[in-house]
Amino acid sequence: MSIFWFITTLLLLHSCTPGVGMDHGIVNGKESIPHSHPYMVYIYDKYTHTACGGFLIKENFVMTAAHCKTNHLKVYLGVNDTNHLPEGIEVNAFSHESFANKPGDDIMLLKLKTPATLNKTVNIIALPKTNKEKISSNCMAMGWGWKEYNEFTPSRVLKEVNLTLLASENCAIPHTLCTKEEAGPAQGDSGGPLVCGNEAVGIVSYCIMDESTSYLTMYTKISHYLTWIHKIMNGFL
Ligand SMILES: *[C@@H]1O[C@H](CO)[C@@H](O)[C@H](O)[C@H]1NC(C)=O
Ligand SMILES: *[C@@H]1O[C@H](CO)[C@@H](O)[C@H](O)[C@H]1NC(C)=O
Ligand SMILES: *[C@@H]1O[C@H](CO)[C@@H](O)[C@H](O)[C@H]1NC(C)=O
Repeated sequence: MSIFWFITTLLLLHSCTPGVGMDHGIVNGKESIPHSHPYMVYIYDKYTHTACGGFLIKENFVMTAAHCKTNHLKVYLGVNDTNHLPEGIEVNAFSHESFANKPGDDIMLLKLKTPATLNKTVNIIALPKTNKEKISSNCMAMGWGWKEYNEFTPSRVLKEVNLTLLASENCAIPHTLCTKEEAGPAQGDSGGPLVCGNEAVGIVSYCIMDESTSYLTMYTKISHYLTWIHKIMNGFL
């Protein structure tokens, strides 16, 4: 059994490999209609060449995964093709204090030094309002990550895939949501949203590969962190 984060680094190349030649996308997904998910944010560090996804939750805040933290992150709004990026925006990063480079508490907020101007291609997505809210099991994940699990094949255009949420008792650790299908996020999709109903309820975090050909994919459960989120966004930390 191997665990790996979905950040794009070549060191992780040989983990979570289901077999040669499986042409998944954001795995088995399809290309999104350009700009159909205007909250989607591309995150890139040009010094380490690491890429992640994220999502705009306020004019000046992007949510992503804590394991995406590097020193020179910039966020790119309203992206269609990653070969044609707009001007990157600098950020201050607030990763969760309890994140310890292992599964759990994999959540980070990026405060934009220049707030976004919302328009047709740049917009925010709602978060759950309470920890008790019932979560729809019809979900979608999206990203510019690898199209194959075992080969460096990031997608230039955004891809998406429909996924069905598992009951939480099937997830490996608390405060996560999970899916187990022969489809879903791959390298480079970390930090992107799991959208169920019309809300971002999860953050793409990591996956566990077992003997089968499907992946137990784990997402940080956003509603568990609402107090922390509000504290950061109100400037109390
Ligand atoms: C998005 O990018 C793709 C790939 O470069 C291109 O074919 C398409 O025309 C672009 N669409 C828009 C609306 O910019
Ligand atoms: C929306 O805002 C983005 C980023 O600020 C900008 O690149 C884009 O041109 C704007 N789109 C429209 C339709 O105004
Ligand atoms: C994904 O789910 C959405 C909303 O439930 C639906 O409209 C869409 O057709 C589905 N896409 C695929 C490829 O099944």
